[in-house]
Order: sequence, then C-alpha cells, then structure tokens
Amino acid sequence: MRQTVLNQHHAASTLTLPNWPRLPIHSRVVLPPPSAEDETQRIPLLDGQRAPYINLDNAASTAPLPAVWEAVQRFLPYYSSVHRGSGFKSRLSTAAYEEAHEIIGKFVGADLETNTVIFGKNTTEAINLLAQRLPLQPHDVVLTTLLEHHSNDLPWRARAQVIHVRATPEGRLDEEDFDRKLAAYADRVVLVAVTGASNVTGFIPPIYRLAAKAHAVGAEILVDAAQLAPHRPIDMKADDDPEHLDYVALSAHKMYAPFGTGALIGPKRRFLASPPAQRGGGTVEIVTLDQVYWRGLPDREEAGSPNVVGAVAMAVAAQELMAMGMDHIARQESELTAYALRQLQTVPGLTLYGERDWRRPHERTGVIPFNLAGIPHGLVAAILGYEGGIGVRNGCFCAHPYVVHLLGLTEQEQSFWRWEALAGDKSHMPGMVRISLGHTTTRSDIDRLVAMLRRIVRGDYEGRYRVDPKTGDYAPEGCKDRFVDHFSLSSEQH
Ligand code: ALA
Repeated sequence: MRQTVLNQHHAASTLTLPNWPRLPIHSRVVLPPPSAEDETQRIPLLDGQRAPYINLDNAASTAPLPAVWEAVQRFLPYYSSVHRGSGFKSRLSTAAYEEAHEIIGKFVGADLETNTVIFGKNTTEAINLLAQRLPLQPHDVVLTTLLEHHSNDLPWRARAQVIHVRATPEGRLDEEDFDRKLAAYADRVVLVAVTGASNVTGFIPPIYRLAAKAHAVGAEILVDAAQLAPHRPIDMKADDDPEHLDYVALSAHKMYAPFGTGALIGPKRRFLASPPAQRGGGTVEIVTLDQVYWRGLPDREEAGSPNVVGAVAMAVAAQELMAMGMDHIARQESELTAYALRQLQTVPGLTLYGERDWRRPHERTGVIPFNLAGIPHGLVAAILGYEGGIGVRNGCFCAHPYVVHLLGLTEQEQSFWRWEALAGDKSHMPGMVRISLGHTTTRSDIDRLVAMLRRIVRGDYEGRYRVDPKTGDYAPEGCKDRFVDHFSLSSEQH
C-alpha cells in the first residue's frame, strides 16, 4: 500500500540535523508600546487641547500588556498554519499554539490529563459552545443568577429551563435564594451557570462554595470568568474536589491580549461524548463518503484554521499576569477600588450602585457604577469622554435585568422605556455610568475623574450636547472627530 511505502521510505531516510547556533531571539528589534506621553497617544479634547487618555473602561476591553505587544511582534514573522504544514514556520506555530493551551490550563489550575482548553473567539462563544455541547433536554434546569451578563443567560434560555437566583437590593447574589432554588429543582438542575465577577457592580460570588453546593445535587458548574480572570486568581481545583469548577470561560481581550481569542476549559469526557458542534477541517482524523472519525481534543472542537496569534497573545498575557502575581494584582486593585469609592462619594449628588462600603473592596473587582442626580448617564459619559479625555461605559452593560433591579425601576417605568426604545427612541434608556479599573489605573486617574465629575455637577462644561434618539448617545454640537490624525484605513493616510 502507498502508506506503507511512504513510511518505509521515511524510516530509511532519517536525518541527523546539525546543531545550528541558537539565535538571540530577544535581541531582535520590536517596537515598544507608545507611552501615554507620546504625542500620538495624547487624544484631542473638545477645547482643542490634547491630553493623555485615561482608560476607565477595562471591564469592556483592555489594551495589550507591553509583553503581549512585544511577543506578538516577535511571533508574527514566524506565523504560519498550524497542524497542516510541514515547513519550519508551521512546526514552530504548531508548537506555540499547543503550548498556549497548556499555559491557559495552568492559568486556571486545570488538570490537563482530564480537562481540555478549547480556544475560540471570546467568552460569549465559549458559553454558546458549552450550551450546544451539554446534552440538555427542555425540562432540564440551568440555575443562573440575576447578576449575569446576557452571554451567560441567553445561550441557556435557548436550550433548557432557566431559573434566575435573585440579587439583594445592593446587587449581591442572594445565597439563601440560591439554596432554596437549588433544593426546589435539585433533581432537574444540570448546571449552575454563574459569573465569576459582575461586569456591572464588580461583585464576586462565592464560586467555590456554589460549586460544592451544585455538586452535592449532582449538577455541574460553569464560571463565566471574563471579569474575574484579570483581577483574581482562579483555581479549578482537582476533579474530585467538591469545590472543583467544571467549566471556566475566558476572554483574552479583557486580559490585556485583545487579539480575538477566548477559551473554554472543561472535562475531556464531556467533549468526547458526542460529535463536535462545528464540523470541518481540523476536526477529523479520517473522512470517507459515509463515515467521519473525529480527532482528539482540543482539535475536534476548534474547527477551521485557528487564531494562532490570538492564542499566543492570550498565553503571554496569562504568563505575565501570573508573573506579576494575581494576589498582588488583587491587593493593588482593592486598594485603588477603596480609594475610588471614597473619592466618588465626595461628589455632590452622586449615587453609587452595588456595594458602597469602601472597607470591603476584596469582595468585588474595581467595577463601579453610579449616576449623577438629574443628569442623564449618557451625557455624563459623553462629557467625560469629549472634555475630560476619560473613557467610561454607560447604559445597561448587556445586563438589562440586573441593571433594572439595581435602579429599582417599577414595572410601569420599564414598560414605558421598552416601548419607546423598540419604537426607535433610545433617548430615555435607563442606565448608569460605569468606571472599571485595570492594572495601569492610578490614583491620579481617579482624581482626574472626580474633578471632572465635580465640574459636570456644577454645569462647568463647554459643549452643547445633543442626544441621538437612534442610539441614545450624546455628542457636542458641531464636533467632528478627526481620527485621521491618529489612525485611518483610508488612502489619504498613506
Ligand atoms: N461585557 C463587557 C462590558 O461589560 C462588554 O462592557
């Protein structure tokens, strides 16, 4: 047979490669990330001045760590196909891609003998993948919480009966309600799907305790760790530990590696039990016209050419976070969160949502939502952006039920707003302003924010802002962004 002949030929021609001198890979020229003082990084303000950008929107997305920025540049000249090519660059890319899986497994404390790391686009994709791969029946119950981002709620609604655990008025997980609902549906709960940290209030549910409770009734647990991973250590623990986390979902763009990758980590047996959700190249060993032999993990769940650059970036970010020390990061961010909570409470008319007590910062991440009395959240966010050079997010943060709960809106208020928004007018959408701290945030960033908020309260701002009813966004009249001075894909730039 042809295969045998090839193998014989291969065996007969085994080569011993010479010992090439090792190249000094770290000495190659890579461009360091620009500093905030770099003229190109000073962003324009409405008054024509330029200022360093203050990113207080880390819960939405994060800029790459310097190590990620540099590693991507060092890797790109070697980039090639993985698991498909015989060339040196393909072999190198394959090795890097496979190692990235191991590093992400280590980052979350997974036992990779029994668990697998599946790369995809982001946490949303990871949770949708799990929702397709769990053998759910319509009468099965997925127990989730009011705190969830839509991405850890909607995928489950499509596949099972979803029961939401309540939140307390200040937005904590109501653990008594969790216990009650877990007991009430004990024989039907297949999965507890809970956030590792809220993207609205930063509240950190007791995931290990919830895991033990889920396991006690024979259910599994998924932790949506998109908001937890950059701020706290995660340990999936041994498979037979009652506090073991069965599934963890991650987004690299929230971990300082914004190159389009996320990961789902979970038990191999789950993914080997049935054919993959997406089928195609890379997922198979052998295909005949009537039969398919699936590959092992993780390949069979990563259909098509994978995002190797994204995986490399994510792994470097994870290594860098581990090297900084997740406990150290948590301590620093807690200290800064306490500072921010104290300072924000000095702004007249500012209402904080979620945990207001600055002495309890360890129970949350540095995600802080608030409103200013009588000033729409969209207007506050716009003034911060256009006149303060401060990036925040406002609105409902893809967590409508939780935000409506925190705002304490009546059913009548909610239906008026929904009716108006669905009719095309989002001018009165309820919401909040959210700041979210990251590892580069400083006290002086908070001070600049607080000074700007005080100005807004006094009416001390320049623009005449108008809301666009189609989007609900505010912008100053007559202001046109000149992106071309910074970045443009159009030919006039080149
Ligand atoms: N979930 C992200 C946020 O809260 C997108 O901004």
